[in-house]
Amino acid sequence: MPRARIVIDRDFTIGDVPRRLFGSFVEHMGRCVYTGIFEPGHPEADERGFRRDVLALVKELGPTVVRYPGGNFVSGYRWEDGVGPAEDRPRRLDGAWHTIETNAFGLHEFVDWAREADVEVMEAVNLGTRGVEEARALVEYANHPGGTYWSDLRRRNGAADPFDIRLWCLGNELDGPWQIGHKTAHEYGRLAQETAKAMRFVDPDLELVAVGSSGRSMPTFGTWEHTVLTHAYDEVDYLSMHAYYQERDGDAASFLAEAVDMDAFIDGVVATIDAVKAAGNHRKQVDISFDEWNVWYMEGLDTDDQPGRVAKGWREHPRLIEDTYSVTDAVVVGTFLHSLLRHGDRVRIANQAQLVNVIAPIRAEENGPAWRQSIFWPFARMAEHARGQILRLAVDASQVPTAKFGDVDVVDAAATWDEENGRIALFVANRSLREHSEVAVELRGLDVTGVRAAEVLTVPEGADRNAANTQEAPDAVGLVPLRGVAVEDGVLRATLPPLSWAVVQFDVARA
Ligand code: AHR
Repeated sequence: MPRARIVIDRDFTIGDVPRRLFGSFVEHMGRCVYTGIFEPGHPEADERGFRRDVLALVKELGPTVVRYPGGNFVSGYRWEDGVGPAEDRPRRLDGAWHTIETNAFGLHEFVDWAREADVEVMEAVNLGTRGVEEARALVEYANHPGGTYWSDLRRRNGAADPFDIRLWCLGNELDGPWQIGHKTAHEYGRLAQETAKAMRFVDPDLELVAVGSSGRSMPTFGTWEHTVLTHAYDEVDYLSMHAYYQERDGDAASFLAEAVDMDAFIDGVVATIDAVKAAGNHRKQVDISFDEWNVWYMEGLDTDDQPGRVAKGWREHPRLIEDTYSVTDAVVVGTFLHSLLRHGDRVRIANQAQLVNVIAPIRAEENGPAWRQSIFWPFARMAEHARGQILRLAVDASQVPTAKFGDVDVVDAAATWDEENGRIALFVANRSLREHSEVAVELRGLDVTGVRAAEVLTVPEGADRNAANTQEAPDAVGLVPLRGVAVEDGVLRATLPPLSWAVVQFDVARA
């Protein structure tokens, strides 16, 4: 049986758990907003049109911060279209997703929804078709108390108090040729620098995210980050990363090891940031906002009527990239969360893309029900239980061969130590498709005093690794108790089923 020995030492910590690591993303894309979080007339909608059934699932999922309004959408968006009396708002062509944008939902609605969902707003400005002027106007509209053109307009539109949005993205994926207003690194670096300056003239207390590469395979990856930061290092606080992964050609073993790629991608961006810091003699540290990540089956960039294309015709909220996630996808998502947590000293913000319907942990049907996808579970449990300090684990594990990464650890893990409550949360995945894996956790400087809870997500009995939750069977895949977790001679032992992701919480005392 494959084995893993995990050593936890009280003195080996990575840093505090950044609560913003458990972020999500709401884009005006497909049915994320319309018929996702917002559907006036739905039996579960409140008086503002917010779906209460979806809100309940969002609260259960537990995201801490939600990025809005895009994504590719933001690069052609006029934020002014989404404020003011709903009946006066213009209908526009959204070139990013070939969709009619009604603007029935805009900034005020999102801020209200975010309050209801108890999440922080992370707002993106359009640096595709727009620039410094529109960005600083938006900051004035959102954050200035009153007595000026834009802040008084906000007040007239019903929000007497400022929205007080602290976290802002300076555009989206502007390194990508698909982006409306695609730029070279020099063009973007200068624009980001000047926009950041102007936004801070309005409100000095902002946290700003510069656009990094849209993926590790972009031809400009590395030089983009270097050039952008050479211009804008002093003005920004974070550099973004985006990554989407999928199983290719039935190669599940490589897919299950993609966190190896995520680890290397993060290490590469950290190295580039720090090289610019050293070369420029900068004092402050720029960190990472991994503000789009997930599993996404890109060849299925399909719609309900035209596979392979973004959308047919110009319609309101077409069904776009509504991937259905399997057990395999959930285990991989668990390992991505491990990777983010292991890098929590530098990845301070991360947003799973997206929240509802569009490559999302939550699905919702128009005028119908909402349910949790398989990938909901690792996110929900980690958002809930990753508290306190991130532990630096020493893992010695059996190897599994993969075509893409060579031999990799059969077990992938991350853990946190909540000293105040005397609790450790261990998050652990078994990448073996066929075999159980035995895990032994040894502690140094801490004693296990009891096992509080242990749950596992794996292939349900009688099903295969493609099992998924659907409208008809919304609870086919979920967490079940992980039996047999035991403490012997101070060592915590658990046996993980093949292809599984587990969370074990145990109580500890200082030794
Ligand atoms: O999340 C879907 C899309 O993926 C976003 O709009 C874009 O930023 C990325 O390419």
